[in-house]
Amino acid sequence: MNYPNLKEAKKRSNKKAEYKINDYSFSNKMMGKKYFLRTYGCQMNEHDSEEMKGILEFLGMTETDELENSDVILLNTCAIRENAHEKVFGYLGRIKHLKKEKPDIIVGIGGCMSQEENIVNEITKRHPYVNFVFGTHNIHELGSLILESQKNKQDIEVYSMEGDVYEGISYKRDSSITAWVNIIYGCDKFCTYCIVPYTRGSERSRKKEEIVKEVNELKSKGYMEVTLLGQNVNAYGHDFHDGTEFSDLLEEVAKTNIPRIRFVTSHPWNFTDKMIDVIAKYDNIMPYIHLPIQSGSDRILKLMGRRYTKEEYLELFHKMKEKIPNVSITTDIIVGFPGETEEDFLETLDVVEKCKFDGAFTFIFSPREGTPAAKMKDDTPLEEKESRLARLNERVNYYSKMNNEKLLEKVVHVLILGKSEKDESKVYGYTDTMKLVNVSASKDTIGKIIDVKITDAKSFSLDGTAIE
Ligand code: SAH
Ligand code: SF4
Ligand code: F3S
Repeated sequence: MNYPNLKEAKKRSNKKAEYKINDYSFSNKMMGKKYFLRTYGCQMNEHDSEEMKGILEFLGMTETDELENSDVILLNTCAIRENAHEKVFGYLGRIKHLKKEKPDIIVGIGGCMSQEENIVNEITKRHPYVNFVFGTHNIHELGSLILESQKNKQDIEVYSMEGDVYEGISYKRDSSITAWVNIIYGCDKFCTYCIVPYTRGSERSRKKEEIVKEVNELKSKGYMEVTLLGQNVNAYGHDFHDGTEFSDLLEEVAKTNIPRIRFVTSHPWNFTDKMIDVIAKYDNIMPYIHLPIQSGSDRILKLMGRRYTKEEYLELFHKMKEKIPNVSITTDIIVGFPGETEEDFLETLDVVEKCKFDGAFTFIFSPREGTPAAKMKDDTPLEEKESRLARLNERVNYYSKMNNEKLLEKVVHVLILGKSEKDESKVYGYTDTMKLVNVSASKDTIGKIIDVKITDAKSFSLDGTAIE
């Protein structure tokens, strides 16, 4: 038994990450059994699910999308906002009933919610039918947790300060065209509203050689695109203390000649000129940057602990636009942070007017237990926050449509990922600037980068026709 502890999780010691090889030596006793896995969170969470699937299939199991037909049920949870919790506990209700009918089903809960003390306490008290809880630091133990769960009572194995880096992971990837590649785990930024530094631990970079090796392997398997993953990709290498930075890695990855390289997420705070230059220099680094601003008010940015001002953000934004041809930039924005006034909010709207973002994810502030912002005085009524969100979304959607309309009649490169769900005669894919396009083209184009003429533009997608 190991219970999570938020205070422990906050600690950052001088301990260097240990580099370990993943162990797949457990037996394949679960041969022929079926697993059901549901993922709730960000790209990193989804990529963790690919690791979990790799382990489950190593045990001899196959995936099912029917909850009722499964032998093992795993929920890979997210903790970023309150509604993430509600979704998981709602789903647990269904599982509870199922478990009454089929008591042999094994139920496991992993992901970021498992790293929260209050959640684990709630599971222990109210959901005793859950067989085991594991965290983001010990996914590699999933195999043994499943095998042992048949004998033991509820097992809680969640570490708060593990912080190691595992290599040799055997992922079962969802796509054979695009792949995620972890480059840095954890986050040390401690933005005052955010739970991630507690649930994911301290910043640990993977070795450059290991990342390049993984990209080369993916390329030789025919993958067309890699997305380098980190809560903060531009903090890459800082923990080596030898001057290594993200631009060095990016350049090495570009030299593998894999057709497309993306990266998420960038923090405006340590985005250097060298990074911008490398992105501009290599054709296979896609001109797309997700650059969360969170707020346009300096006062709120300070309370958020974001370490930049509105002016500094705008300066970086315009530098990117100037130096990287055709770059598209998207952002994240939180409204209704504790103490946000109408004036503060107008500063955020002003940034949207100035940047005319290609897109933005917008959220109402959600207090996360254990974070500093959850204790700040917050007297803005929810209706006011909802009205700010609606006003913001109206402007955000206006500009994303405007940016999409600029592509009308233009020819763009699209990497085709699959058949369109809505229309049999169409396929879908993404432009190098990360815009979704539904394309009239044959299924033979799946997995290829093709030229597409844009025929229609909406807020969230484009339509187009393949040109020979
Ligand atoms: N590492 C990324 C963000 C990860 S979380 C970064 O720093 O940009 C994704 C987004 O969720 C954040 O950018 C933020 O806009 C939002 N978010 C995080 N914590 C939140 C909270 N407590 N309430 C509302 N939105 C939040
Ligand atoms: Fe959260 Fe800030 Fe870290 Fe992003 S940089 S994960 S918002 S603490
Ligand atoms: Fe959610 Fe954890 Fe990602 S809290 S957004 S799954 S890092």
